[in-house]
Amino acid sequence: MEHTRVARLKDIVDFKKEIDNAGRILQSGGLVAFPTETVYGLGANGFDARACHAIYEAKGRPSDNPLILHVADRSMVDAVAADVPLMAEQLMAAFCPGPLTLILPRGSRVPDAVTGGLDTVGIRMPDHDIARAMIRSAGCPVAAPSANLSGRPSPTTAEAVLQDMDGRIPLILDGGPCSYGVESTIVDCTGSKAAILRPGAITREMLEELLGDVELDPALAGESSIPRAPGMKYRHYAPKAPLTLLEGPTGLMAQGMQEELKKRANRRVGVIASEEVAAYLQAFLPAERIVSYGKQGDLQSIAANLYESLRAFDDMPMDSLLAEGTQETGLGLAIMNRLHKASGFRSIVLSDKLRKG
Ligand code: TXA
Ligand code: MG
Repeated sequence: MEHTRVARLKDIVDFKKEIDNAGRILQSGGLVAFPTETVYGLGANGFDARACHAIYEAKGRPSDNPLILHVADRSMVDAVAADVPLMAEQLMAAFCPGPLTLILPRGSRVPDAVTGGLDTVGIRMPDHDIARAMIRSAGCPVAAPSANLSGRPSPTTAEAVLQDMDGRIPLILDGGPCSYGVESTIVDCTGSKAAILRPGAITREMLEELLGDVELDPALAGESSIPRAPGMKYRHYAPKAPLTLLEGPTGLMAQGMQEELKKRANRRVGVIASEEVAAYLQAFLPAERIVSYGKQGDLQSIAANLYESLRAFDDMPMDSLLAEGTQETGLGLAIMNRLHKASGFRSIVLSDKLRKG
């Protein structure tokens, strides 16, 4: 078993030393976990097919699920894309570096190990100094999925990476907690209209302001059709205990939770909820069964705390979990997408009508 070292980049001397070291590991075909503004990535040299295969092995990831190539600057995009359509130029000018992944026609140097054999490639320029310095130091695009075991919530701290990857990779660069907490928005730029394949912090509203009408991959609405981002078809982000999502107006959440808890009176149930609902439930549940992800409506902090909340009960023997949903506009679309997937689309819809009727 490989020894995994966590490198804390405390000062400028550490930074330089550890970035050089990470660059060398990547150049020689090894794996390095690194922070980005969204979640931690598990990186390999994106031109080295063997190194990319090692990512799939470390994660236990199905090999038909393509990897995103991370670049340091605009000039690197031309090394991995066969063509950069106008809408992609507009998106990069507006949002890159940032939490956005563009699907573009695949360049000839990109191996099948990255694209899963597709003729397109996902490209992302992270808004994070450590990530971009590491890519520059490696001197190549860095293929990286989120640094979790396949199916688990993405890691937003170096500790969470270590939980999943200890003994599987040589190095984790610790950049502290990620600021956004949900993965990048994926936009397919290969059609006539931009299409969102995975919602993220660059919201549908922001994209539409720039590009006009933007499609939403119909598969995002449920399990009915095959998603265009292959990874979106897998059960994902899942805590160890089965999770049920409560959807509906925020005003109904506290009472809705209380009723669901009553139905599960003899079971060990954990709750992931807003501060408001958590405060209300304190009268009915011991404190260690409630995890709060932030204030109702504060979507930024809910997104940032979401995956840590989903991991919070993994060390406790829980029978089931209940999670409070949010609105589905703005960043709420990304949060609810992850909660739907974490729950395997098991949800209870609270509504005024049902209540009165
Ligand atoms: O924020 C992020 O995007 C993070 C950080 C580390 O950059 N990365 C990330 O990677 O979330 P991953 O592998 O967990 O998710 C990548 C998603 C998968 O659902 C995959 O199927 C999709 O992107 N994808 C990659 N290449 C694609 C392509 N050519 N066409 C369609 N979907 C693609
Ligand atoms: Mg992932």
